[in-house]
Amino acid sequence: MATINEHYLKLQSGYLFPEIARRVTNYCQSHPDAKVIKMGIGDVTRPLPRAIIDAMHAAVEEMSTSHSFRGYGPEQGYPFLRDAIRDNCYRERNIDIESDEIFISDGSKCDSGNLLDVFGTDNTIAVLDPVYPVYVDTNVMVGRTGDAGANGQYEGLVYLPVNAENNFQPALPNGRVDLIYLCYPNNPTGTVATREMLKTWVDYAHKNQSIIFFDAAYEAFVSDPEIPRSIYEVEGAKEVAIELRSFSKNAGFTGVRCAFTVIPKQLMGHTSDGSPQAIHPLWNRRHCTKFNGVSYPVQRGAAASFSPEGRQQIAELITFYMNNARLLREGLKAAGIEVYGGVNAPYVWLKTPDDLSSWDFFDLLLNESQIVGTPGSGFGASGEGYFRLSAFNSLENTEEAIHRIKSRLADSP
Ligand code: MLT
Repeated sequence: MATINEHYLKLQSGYLFPEIARRVTNYCQSHPDAKVIKMGIGDVTRPLPRAIIDAMHAAVEEMSTSHSFRGYGPEQGYPFLRDAIRDNCYRERNIDIESDEIFISDGSKCDSGNLLDVFGTDNTIAVLDPVYPVYVDTNVMVGRTGDAGANGQYEGLVYLPVNAENNFQPALPNGRVDLIYLCYPNNPTGTVATREMLKTWVDYAHKNQSIIFFDAAYEAFVSDPEIPRSIYEVEGAKEVAIELRSFSKNAGFTGVRCAFTVIPKQLMGHTSDGSPQAIHPLWNRRHCTKFNGVSYPVQRGAAASFSPEGRQQIAELITFYMNNARLLREGLKAAGIEVYGGVNAPYVWLKTPDDLSSWDFFDLLLNESQIVGTPGSGFGASGEGYFRLSAFNSLENTEEAIHRIKSRLADSP
């Protein structure tokens, strides 16, 4: 008899985004002429920058002759990409990260789940609430939680609420936790962490021998020079933090797939007898055993994002999306809606009008304005009463969405 991993049976309903897609599909089937504007999942809409396309074309051509053809590449990533990341993402900001501390992968979502392979199941986990659901669900899947309670929160996880009342600044956990997930710029709230705030977390991690998973997938959207783009800008972070980064949102790779994880060599976990053990060789072992690397043309494309043309074209993409974020913020505010985020992040987080629940507001926007957003409660109990809109859309759709929301609110009694 083949048994199953019963921890999967603890998972709450469907993963958030497929559930949204299901409701949208149902709506579109019964309203085939509706022009639905999708601002739910943070999926990019602009084409890949030309510098990246050209590099990928050239790499595909290399595959066409026997002298330049490549089979398996290094599992950890080609040196040309690891070096480019080291130089452009770190050394340029005076952060000392070595190329062999950078592991190329097919996505931060996968990395954040896969990382759990090298950590014990007895670790206590802290997440912000609301939170990117992958952090929670992957811990449920490996058995690091109990069952979910009535509010959807899993027994055994430490939830740190972030909301307008605490200015989206999580309090440190009461007591010790072993693994801490931080995502900044934050998904879903679009808020950012100051250097002082990150320093508080790094100090906490040192004091408690904890490890921080720092998801910086949206760092490219930070325009305020005072806001750190890497946790390694904070002194002491290399001893306590893993950083996850992605080409998805800045370079438009959501469909192409390329990301990386930084595991500094001095980052230590512990064996059950309390002996320190470096995480780097464990992750290297895991990566080489379960992963065969990102394809060569994709890595060439990713590396081209650091060329002068690539950087310029990516800067234009970011300006484009952040202009949408600004329009959304301003438009929603003008409609009398309380808005957060959207300044150094491509997500706008809003308080639902008339105290509607997040899903009620989702249904209202879909049914009456044909706009799809993401219900805040889908990211956790503290997201109830909030709603996320993504700036990853065309200018035309963004303007049209604002127009529809304003007219809808003007019509409401
Ligand atoms: C989101 O909408 O939260 C993201 O697109 C999800 C992801 O990057 O996996």
